[in-house]
Amino acid sequence: MPTKTRIKDYPKWVVTAMWVSALLIAVGSYRFLIADIALVMPAMLHHALERPLMFYLHIGLAPIALALLPLQFSNGLRKARPAVHRWLGRLYGAAILLAGVSGLWLAYTTEEGPVAAVGLGLLSVFWLWTTGVAIRHAMARRIAQHRVWMIRSAALTLAAVTLRIYLPIGAVTVGFEASYPIICWLAWVPNLVLAEWILRRGRGAPMGATA
Ligand code: HEM
Repeated sequence: MPTKTRIKDYPKWVVTAMWVSALLIAVGSYRFLIADIALVMPAMLHHALERPLMFYLHIGLAPIALALLPLQFSNGLRKARPAVHRWLGRLYGAAILLAGVSGLWLAYTTEEGPVAAVGLGLLSVFWLWTTGVAIRHAMARRIAQHRVWMIRSAALTLAAVTLRIYLPIGAVTVGFEASYPIICWLAWVPNLVLAEWILRRGRGAPMGATA
C-alpha cells in the first residue's frame, strides 16, 4: 500500500489551504504595525503595557516562523537552493527561540486563568524542544530525523492557525470565556497527534523522503 510521506502526496487543496491560512495569519498578525494595540488586539493590551519587550518579541517574530513553513516544506526550493533552505532554517530557529521564550512568559502572565496558562506554557516548551532537536539533527546532517522533528515543530507552529479557527467557533457556541482555556490545548494537542499519525503512516518508506 502506498504511504503518504511527503506533503505533495496529500490532496493539493489541503496543502494549499494550510499554507494560505498560515500566510494570511502571519500577515494579519502585523496589524499592530498600522493601528494601536488597544484597537486591533484589545485583549492583549495588558501584555503590551506591562511586558512590552516580551510581547513585541513574540508578535514580531512568531509570524516569521509561521510564514516560513511553506518555503521550508517546498521540495522545489530545497532541491534548487539548499543554501537558501539552510539560511531560512536558521531564521526559523532563531524566531522560535525568541518567540518561544517570550510566549512562555506571556503564558505565565496571561489573564485567562491557569488552564490556559498551562496549555500555552506547555506549547511553548514543546515548540522550543521539537525545533531545537530538529535543528540539531540538521546540523549533524541526520536528514531523516531532521525531517521527523521538523514535522512535529511545524504541527506546533500551525497551532497559531488552528487556535484562530477554533476561537470564533468557541465564541459563538459556549462563549469566549468558557472556550478559551480549552482552545489553548485544543489548538496544539490534536496537531501533534496528527503529526505522529502521519509519521507512523510513513514509517517503512525511504527515510530520505521529504515532507
Ligand atoms: C506555537 C507556540 C506559541 C505559543 C506558546 C504562543 C503563546 C502566546 C501567548 C501566551 C499569547 C498571549 C495570549 C494570552 O495572554 O491569552 C500569544 C499571543 C499572540 N501570538 Fe502566540 N504563541 C505561539 C505561536 C504563535 C505563532 C506561530 C504566531 C504567528 C502568527 C503567534 C502570534 C501571536 C499573536 C499575533 C498574539 C497576539 C494575540 C492576537 O492575535 O490577538 N503566536 N501567543
